[in-house]
Amino acid sequence: MTASPAKADFPVSQVRRYLEPGPIVLVSSRWRGRANIMTMGWHTVMEFTPALVGCVISSANHSFSMIRGSGECVINLPTTALTDTVVGIGNTTGAEIDKFAHFGLTAEEAEKVGAPLIAECHAHFECRLHDDALIDRYNFFIFEVVKAHVAPSPQHPETLHYTGDGVFMVAGKIIDRRKLFRPEML
Ligand SMILES: Cc1cc2nc3c(=O)[nH]c(=O)nc-3n(C[C@H](O)[C@H](O)[C@H](O)COP(=O)(O)O)c2cc1C
Repeated sequence: MTASPAKADFPVSQVRRYLEPGPIVLVSSRWRGRANIMTMGWHTVMEFTPALVGCVISSANHSFSMIRGSGECVINLPTTALTDTVVGIGNTTGAEIDKFAHFGLTAEEAEKVGAPLIAECHAHFECRLHDDALIDRYNFFIFEVVKAHVAPSPQHPETLHYTGDGVFMVAGKIIDRRKLFRPEML
C-alpha cells in the first residue's frame, strides 16, 4: 500500500516549489538587430495541433519588449552541462550585456523565425506569437511552435527543474508504463 505522509501548513506564495513544471529553458530573441537570452521556468504545453505553448515573461525583463516587438522567439532546451550558464543568463539582463558573447554561446540562424538558436542546447523550438490576449493582464504569451530541432541522443537528456531558492532537480530516471495507456493517449 502507498504510504500517506503527514502534512504541515505551507505558505501559498511558495507553492511554486512543488508545481513549477520545468524543464528550465533558455528563450532567445532578436529585435532591431540585437539578440538576447533569458532563463524561463514558467511555461506550459497548451495544445498538440497547432503546437501551442504558453509562458510567463515578466514585463521587467528586457526580453519582454524584444519578444513582444518581434512576435517571435526560440525556446531552447539546455541540459545540466549548461547549469551555471542557465543561472548566469537568469541573473543578468540583455539591457546591459550581450549574453551570447558574455556566456560564450553560439547563435545559429533559425529556419522560420528571426530569433537565433543556441547551438549548445539539446533542442530548439522556433515560436511565433499566436495570441497576445493575456499579455497585458498576466504577462502570459501564447506561442505556436512552428519548427522543432531535437538532438536524437540522448533520448532522455538530463534537464533542469527549478524548485526555487537557487536549487534545481535533475531529470533522468525513466518509468515506462506504455502498456497501461490507451493508444490515443500516447
Ligand atoms: C531558474 C530561473 C527561472 C526563471 N524563470 C522565469 C520565468 O519563467 N519568467 C520570467 O519572466 N523570468 C524568469 N526568470 C528570470 C529571468 O530569466 C531574468 O529576469 C533575466 O535576467 C531576464 O533577462 P533579460 O532582462 O535579458 O530579458 C528565471 C530565472 C531563473 C534563474
